[in-house]
Amino acid sequence: MILWVDGSIRDPAEPVVRATDHGLTVGDGVFEACELLNGRPFALTRHLERLERSAEGLGLPAPDRDEVRKAVDAVAAAWGDELARVRILWTAGEGPLGTDAAWGPGTLVVAATAVGVPRAVRVSVVPWVRNERSAIAGLKTTSYAENVRALAWAKAHGAAEAIFANTRGELCEGTGTNIFLERDGVLLTPPLTSGCLAGVTRAVVIEWAREDGIEVREDALDLAELDGAAHVGLTSSTKGMVPVVAVDGRPIEPGPLTGRVSEVYARRHVLERDP
Ligand SMILES: Cc1ncc(COP(=O)(O)O)c(C=O)c1O
Repeated sequence: MILWVDGSIRDPAEPVVRATDHGLTVGDGVFEACELLNGRPFALTRHLERLERSAEGLGLPAPDRDEVRKAVDAVAAAWGDELARVRILWTAGEGPLGTDAAWGPGTLVVAATAVGVPRAVRVSVVPWVRNERSAIAGLKTTSYAENVRALAWAKAHGAAEAIFANTRGELCEGTGTNIFLERDGVLLTPPLTSGCLAGVTRAVVIEWAREDGIEVREDALDLAELDGAAHVGLTSSTKGMVPVVAVDGRPIEPGPLTGRVSEVYARRHVLERDP
């Protein structure tokens, strides 16, 4: 791992965060994860914009964008050309042990770790829901314990990703992925009002698929549509677009649109590093 904290690269074994950091005590922080390839992050501008939106959503000051870029550059240079994930973490900083707001200043941590090559995944629908009316719906906060729990549940059920419905029973998203279904030659994905994260890959895939002549619709989808779906795909920064090969143990075939978009994405994202 390459780790950057407070202006410099640090030894990952070194303690760097205070015990009273509100990110640690109550999950009062936001983060981003983007792909690093040949020393360059993908779609960094979109990730920084989302980091700022997430911070605003938590009532935190935004981190200094130039400083974050410098930190990402330093981590990328130290990492090298191998495929990696860069994680940018911005917490509220020092605060009370309780839930009253922190006083900061915020803590900025940027780290790179190796990441596996994306492949097809099996998914399982978890018995918990995303609350699309939550104060943190759609924000990429460090309060990810629900996702940790859901992913462990999915793995215990033979899947590699967990899928959430929302409180209205609509299909929402995975723990670290957005979801697409294929129906009648159209690519469908839940709208942001479902409570899903505004995935950077989701947005790029929608744009690039449309440019490739594919019809893409953001439609509220009943969770039951997942059971009946012939083809399903997932998107994320470290996966691009990958096919789902089983839903709750029911095998499904990789779809033609998922395959086409996955190729377009794989080709374009190597060339266009900050779309
Ligand atoms: C809950 C959730 N949904 C969707 C995604 C996919 O977003 P992106 O394409 O920006 O990686 C993520 C990313 O980790 C996530 O945490």
